[in-house]
Amino acid sequence: MSYAALSGKKIILGITGSIAAYKAAALTRLLVREGAVVKVIMTPSATNFISPLTLSTLSRHEVQTQVMEEGSWNNHVALGLWADCMLIAPLTANTLSSMAAGACDNLLLAVYLSARCPVFVAPAMDEDMWHHPSTNRNLSRISADGVKIIPVGHGELASGLTGEGRMAEPEDITAFLQQFFAEGQSLKGKKVLITAGPTYEPLDPVRFIGNRSSGKMGLSLAEAAMARGAAVTVVLGPVHLPETKSGPEVIRVGTAVEMFHAVEAHFGEADIIIFAAAVADYRPEMPAEQKIKRKGDELMVRLVPNPDIAAQMGQRKNYRQLTIGFALETENELQHARDKMAKKNLDMIVLNSLRDPGAGFESDTNKITIIPAGNKAEEYQLKSKSAVAEDIWNSILQHFGDRL
Ligand code: CTP
Repeated sequence: MSYAALSGKKIILGITGSIAAYKAAALTRLLVREGAVVKVIMTPSATNFISPLTLSTLSRHEVQTQVMEEGSWNNHVALGLWADCMLIAPLTANTLSSMAAGACDNLLLAVYLSARCPVFVAPAMDEDMWHHPSTNRNLSRISADGVKIIPVGHGELASGLTGEGRMAEPEDITAFLQQFFAEGQSLKGKKVLITAGPTYEPLDPVRFIGNRSSGKMGLSLAEAAMARGAAVTVVLGPVHLPETKSGPEVIRVGTAVEMFHAVEAHFGEADIIIFAAAVADYRPEMPAEQKIKRKGDELMVRLVPNPDIAAQMGQRKNYRQLTIGFALETENELQHARDKMAKKNLDMIVLNSLRDPGAGFESDTNKITIIPAGNKAEEYQLKSKSAVAEDIWNSILQHFGDRL
């Protein structure tokens, strides 16, 4: 990790009304020591826990708390545009819920809504509040909006109880930001091509053979690659594409043959190609031109093979291009995955086992084993698909970074 990662970075530190606000002083000092330029914004209730004077002294900038201050208006849009990142630490349940709802009744929330930069939060709450379903719901919502959540610690809480919910220590928050900014450069200048989602193979104008792939794994990989500085193109089958603030280039396709042609057109310029789509292996040979009518007892549909996109690109790739595939297996998983990697000339294969609950198609989580060619398998815990995407990129960079 680069320890200069925060040097010159412009950080808005938002402080909300929690006992943990006292740690914001140490946090400000650490960030400034790492070379960051820190401007502090406090919610009005945060000022009950720590004095703006302490923070303005440590940050060497005036601290702002109100949209209107002494007859003048604080320009929250300008502040949001100025920053390289916004860090809200500590984040209370109250501000969390306002962020999830898009509420805007103080300066901190107005800046949050105007900020185009990455936003980090370090929650701080009592254990029962932390585990409340509404906290969970709100965290999922802001996480889906792109906010990065710094894990809470375990230990003594303000209530006197011991448990989960403590704000991460200033050193850990600083390390989290350093890691983010260092990673943000790790795919800079690289072109990434990803296939994602199912393919639909028409039987007639209204019916098709398809599968339950949601495209979420491929889209999470795309988002993570963009955050690391890559230019990303996704060839996406027929799934709903969630709205994001700044997404990758997306090429929509329906069938495996369309996906093949779109990949072929972009393959040459790509440095890293990930085949995350669940491509139908077969398609109806002759889709009916009109809707098929019910008649007789049986209907025979003749299927013919689709192109194996990963395998064909595996034949065409040059020595610098990396190809990565997925394997969904139900038995003898590791062996089948290794065989698939060899057959398709992949550099790495990511294995999902249907035996793992929470892994696979329609869920938001996944449990994977990464097998880099010529290396031993790396097994991971069940995680959200966006956390899995980070693991996959870390592993790609660890094993093949020198080839990129
Ligand atoms: N794949 C592809 N084109 C196909 C089929 C698969 O690009 N026509 C890619 C998938 O995106 C995945 C990998 O190949 O990265 C393995 O997919 P999978 O369906 O598990 O493999 P198959 O070769 O179809 O093997 P199986 O007989 O197990 O279905």
